[in-house]
Amino acid sequence: TLAWLTAKRDAAPLWHDETTGSFHVFGHPEMIEILSDPATFSSDFSAMAPPPDPDVPNFMEASLTVTDPPRHGQLRKLVSQAFTPRMVDRLRTRISEVTGELLDAVGDRDRFDLVGDVAYPLPVIVIAEMLGIPAADRDLFRHWAELLLSNSENTQVGTLGEAGYTGDRAEQLRRMSDYLLEHARERRKQPRDDLIGRLVAAEVDGERLTDQQIINFSAFLLLAGHLTTTLLLGNAMLAFGEHPDQVTAVRDDPGLIPAAIEEVLRYRPPVVFLYRLTKQPATIGGVEIPAGRIVVCWIMSANRDERVFTAAERFDVGRQPNPHLTFSHGIHFCLGAPLARAESAIALRALLDRFADIRCGTPVYHQKPDIFGVRELPLDVRRA
Ligand code: HEM
Repeated sequence: TLAWLTAKRDAAPLWHDETTGSFHVFGHPEMIEILSDPATFSSDFSAMAPPPDPDVPNFMEASLTVTDPPRHGQLRKLVSQAFTPRMVDRLRTRISEVTGELLDAVGDRDRFDLVGDVAYPLPVIVIAEMLGIPAADRDLFRHWAELLLSNSENTQVGTLGEAGYTGDRAEQLRRMSDYLLEHARERRKQPRDDLIGRLVAAEVDGERLTDQQIINFSAFLLLAGHLTTTLLLGNAMLAFGEHPDQVTAVRDDPGLIPAAIEEVLRYRPPVVFLYRLTKQPATIGGVEIPAGRIVVCWIMSANRDERVFTAAERFDVGRQPNPHLTFSHGIHFCLGAPLARAESAIALRALLDRFADIRCGTPVYHQKPDIFGVRELPLDVRRA
């Protein structure tokens, strides 16, 4: 994909694919222009979606990412009351503890799977705790995270055979929905200072979230929050594995970790592209786009636009400034960015502190075009 993106971007920042009728954006300034104009470039694809199956809960229905203004602004204000950067800041100690426990569980093995042992469980545990899911239900919650993912990927689900894990996918999703509903109802009776409690209490201009919206948003957070952060951590170790000199720089100066994370985000964005749909004709980079067209925004390409990033192909943990588009731009800018940044910085620091030497084994990549990252990454380590 990278070679194709580079060739396309070198040819033109915008390309009309005449076979499908879609438009592809490769340039950074052009993508900023598009993402800054949600009235023209809509996120609402409901008109094109197949009719929903009434038997399967649709957690994505009316979720933030697929909503346009003015509704988007109202919803975002409501959920932002619950999901604040301050809340993430308060969580830092807990994130360190959970990371420590996960690394302790590796024991004295010299080889472990970064994804299975650390990068996958960490964000799921953190988001479960944020929502206020009891620790005893953690495994169930983790299973549901996998189940949500299996929507688009053939993950093996329902194989654990324990109570609560049985039934087909639709039935399990209904159970998840009921479970979250029960939590929302409990908090309506008895307020609690966790994410579900805050969603229940949130109010903007007299409007409150419905039970269904709270269920959907909680499920969305579970999905949005864990796969991407897992991928980010895997991508970080891969990039470090390929650039040992940069690891030395970070080891010498751990203050570089936040910048190193930004560079990993730019260099290997977990979300490779975004879609928009034109509501009216527009001209971008001198190219006319009619109404009703799909526009594919290639984050992976914009992040390497030489007009914005010098020596864009170089992985450089000291890169400043680093205006990558990995968390999107404009009104849909990732709400979880502070959490993803905190989790990955803390986990990276813990790995570097604990192990004097880390080598990547052979990674197993996800085979989906829209995400970039590993499902498995064996690490060979030597302790400090
Ligand atoms: C939106 C990427 C982590 C919650 C987005 C969007 C992107 C993105 C690209 C915008 C989609 C668009 O413009 O159409 C990422 C990446 C992550 C990450 C790369 C990790 C490295 C998280 C986490 C959470 C989260 C940890 C929460 C637990 C959200 C939410 C939105 C969103 C709620 C919707 C915002 C809106 O539409 O207003 N994310 N995300 N994300 N993300 Fe993230």
